[in-house]
Amino acid sequence: MPDPAPTLVTGAAGQVGQDLLRHLVGRGVPVVAADLRPRPDGDPTLDAIPWHRLDVTAPGAVADLVGCLRPQRIFHLAAILSARGEQDPQATYRVNQTGTYNVLEACRIHGVPQCVFTSTIAVFGPGLPEVVPDDVPLHPTTMYGVTKVAGELLGAYYAQRYGLDFRGVRFPGLISASLPGGGTSDYALFMYYDGVRLGHYTAFCRPDTRIPLMYMPDAVAGLVDLALAPRTRLRRHVYNIAAFSPRADEIARSVQRALPGVRIDFEPDPERQAILDSWPRALDDTAARTDWSFRPRFDLDAMTDDLVPKVRALVHGRSAEAPSPAAAP
Ligand code: SER
Repeated sequence: MPDPAPTLVTGAAGQVGQDLLRHLVGRGVPVVAADLRPRPDGDPTLDAIPWHRLDVTAPGAVADLVGCLRPQRIFHLAAILSARGEQDPQATYRVNQTGTYNVLEACRIHGVPQCVFTSTIAVFGPGLPEVVPDDVPLHPTTMYGVTKVAGELLGAYYAQRYGLDFRGVRFPGLISASLPGGGTSDYALFMYYDGVRLGHYTAFCRPDTRIPLMYMPDAVAGLVDLALAPRTRLRRHVYNIAAFSPRADEIARSVQRALPGVRIDFEPDPERQAILDSWPRALDDTAARTDWSFRPRFDLDAMTDDLVPKVRALVHGRSAEAPSPAAAP
């Protein structure tokens, strides 16, 4: 019998990609990874996954890989996040916008049945209600947000025009035991990471900053649950998903409960604070809970208890040169 068609993950070396690959392998899904970056070292699960170098901005390369693999599904994660994106909006446009177009075109040309897209709270902009539903006017202030809005719309167009099964979630800021990748929500992860590594962290936001956050295991399980949900149950292409929405000083207190003696200060950076202030404080994810039974398992303190030992292992297993918090985008 031929092997079942694999699942392809773009942006596989990124913060979501690595955890998604491990989750898919754990669920017995045959998976193939693609990224511009090489396979991260030292993880036996990742070592066993076929790994392709792929620049999603190159249409021919994307179409060739998809034509060769004939995947049954693509998780399209490759993207530049908001803070790093503001350092180079042009590259962000190429990777996020052209890259998504190239992946959707490859799906069309080679008849890939399903494309799963990772959108974000960054699609929203100023003037939001206290709890933000799926359908509000979208006025993002970052190139990352602009390209993610366009990706949502483009995917819905390919669904309507070409019958592609296009699905996606709007992720909150994600926290996991891997190094952050240039997001504006990274202050939360750095409280844990530098709390363990250095015993102190100066956050680039105000203590009363509040955005939706989620622990990576819930994010990855949610993404895969959405991919596997019966199409007939889905009333939308892209869903808000939510877990918890702590103030930054509440995260600091949760970290200090688990790591007594850690010092966390706040020195807001005007640009990143403005981005954070333009995002939702809380999300309404009723549709995701109703249509495909999305249920996060972790609240803030449960995440802290699970995460701190993992961050300890990450920090102590690494050599000294991790990025400094001040240098983090
Ligand atoms: N974590 C992302 C960022 O900060 C938000 O989706 O850019």
